[in-house]
Amino acid sequence: MRRRTALKAIGIGIGGLVVLGGGGLGVYYAAAKRDTFGKIPFDRALPIPSLAEADRGGSGARVFTLGIQPGETRFKDGPATRTWGVNGTYLGPTIRARRGERVEFAVHNGLDQETSLHWHGMHLPAAMDGGPHQPVAAGGTWRPRWTVDQPAATLWYHPHVHGATADHMYRGLTGLFIVDDEDAEALNLPSEYGVDDVPMIVQDRAFDGDNQFEQRTPLGGSLGVIGDEILVNGTIGPYFDVTTRLVRLRLLNGSNARLYNFGFSDDRSFWLVATDGGLLAEPWETDRLYLSPGERAEIVVAFQPGERVELRSYPSDHGGLVGRLDGFDDRLDICQFRAAGTLAGAAVPPAELAAVPDLAGEPVAEGRSFVLASDQINGRSMAMDRIDFGVREGSVEVWEVTNDNGFLHNFHVHDVQFQVLTVDGQPPEPHLRGRKDTILLVQGKRYRLAMRFTDHTDPNMPYMYHCHLLQHEDDGMMGQFVVLGEGERVGVVPQQHSHP
Ligand code: C2O
Ligand code: CU
Ligand code: CU
Repeated sequence: MRRRTALKAIGIGIGGLVVLGGGGLGVYYAAAKRDTFGKIPFDRALPIPSLAEADRGGSGARVFTLGIQPGETRFKDGPATRTWGVNGTYLGPTIRARRGERVEFAVHNGLDQETSLHWHGMHLPAAMDGGPHQPVAAGGTWRPRWTVDQPAATLWYHPHVHGATADHMYRGLTGLFIVDDEDAEALNLPSEYGVDDVPMIVQDRAFDGDNQFEQRTPLGGSLGVIGDEILVNGTIGPYFDVTTRLVRLRLLNGSNARLYNFGFSDDRSFWLVATDGGLLAEPWETDRLYLSPGERAEIVVAFQPGERVELRSYPSDHGGLVGRLDGFDDRLDICQFRAAGTLAGAAVPPAELAAVPDLAGEPVAEGRSFVLASDQINGRSMAMDRIDFGVREGSVEVWEVTNDNGFLHNFHVHDVQFQVLTVDGQPPEPHLRGRKDTILLVQGKRYRLAMRFTDHTDPNMPYMYHCHLLQHEDDGMMGQFVVLGEGERVGVVPQQHSHP
C-alpha cells in the first residue's frame, strides 16, 4: 500500500508536469488518448452467458453449484490468456431467481488461494454476503443460503477478499444475478434472454505481448488498472444480431476502474428503464448514460430493419486532474448491432414501469456523513476488526456522501438499495431517481442518500460500504456497519476463518 501511495504521489507530479507540456511527457500525454471509433472489425458474435442450472434441494430451495477455477481463454489470435472463471474459464453463468424463492449455493474454490463471491446489490444476511469476512479457502466450499426478497433487478457477483478484489476480478471472476418478479413480468418489456433481453458485461483489459492480462496503472493515473481493449461478455469487438424492434440491454460496468459514457454511433436516443436495484417509475429517454464500476443499467433501444449501429463509450466530463491518463478522453467502440430485414414486436416500451418507494417524507433515525479522499473514508482506512457504526433495523437513515479529492470515486452500500434525495441540494437527475446501490461521485458534489435497513440483524457480522474503484477499495477506501435489532449494541467481528 505504501509503495502505491508513493507511486501515486509521483503520478500527480507527472500529471502536473504534463499539463505544463514538457517534451517527451507531452508526447506521452497525447498518446494516452485512445480512439477506436470505426476501427473495430466486429467479427465475433456476442456470446450470451449461460443460465446457471439449479437442483431442487431438500428444503425446496434451488441449489446452484458454482466452481471457481483457473483456465485459459482465447480472446485474440496467438497464445491463450491465463484467466479465472466460474464454471468455465472466464466470467460465470447468469444466475436467475424469483422474488420469494429460497436459494442455496455450493461455491467451490478451485484456485490455489483464498477468494470469495459477493452478491452485489442483494438484500441478505451479512453472513451470506460473500464479503471479506466470508473467504473460501483454496479447495474449500462455502454454502450460503437465503430467501430472495427484493424487486426484479440486474444484480451481479464477484470476489471480495480484502486487498485482492481488484486482482481477482481482473482475472475474470464476474457474473450476473438476475432477480425476477411478477410485476416486471407483467410488463411488456423485451424479456427473452439472449434474444431481445441481452446481458452485457462490459470490461476493459490490457494485454501484454504474450496475450496475458496486464494489470498496469497508467503512469500518472489515479484509478488503478485501465485497459485499452473492451470486452463484452468476454469477447473483444462483438456484434449482436437484432431480430426485434426493441432490445433490452442489461449493462454492467464490470471494469475495475474505467468510467463509461455510453451512447450510440448515430447519437440515437434510448430509454433507461432500470437502475441498479430495479425498474424506474417510467422510462427516461436519453442519448448518453454514465456507468461507473459496479453500476448497472437496463436500457431499451429501438432498431430499424437492416441497419447497423454501434454502442460506444464517449469521452467524459469527470476526469479531474489527470483524466486523460485514466481514460476519460477515450472514444471506444464496444459492440455492433445488426438488425435483420424484418423486426418483430412492439416499437416503444410501456409508459409506466414500477412503483418506486419514496423515502423523502419518512422520519430520519440518523444522519451520517462520509467523505472520500486519499484511499480513506472519513480519514480512516478499512480495518477488518473495526465496525464503524450500527444502524437500527427498520429505520431510515440519510447518508451524505462527498468525493473530496481530485480523482474519481463512487460509493457502494451492501444489503440495501438507496434513494438519492438530493445532489448539491437539488433533486437528482432522472437517471438517479431509481433504486441504486452504487453511485458515481462527481468531485465536490454532495449526495444525500436515503435508505431503510430491514431484516437480517446481526450485531457482529458487518456489511461493507466502499468506493467500487477496486484499487481504491483494496487500498482501504472501505468501512463496515452492522444492522442492530431492538436493544442490540455493536458487537465484535468474529475471528476470521476461511470456509474449508
Ligand atoms: Cu460489488 Cu462490496 O461490492
Ligand atoms: Cu456489493
Ligand atoms: Cu475511489
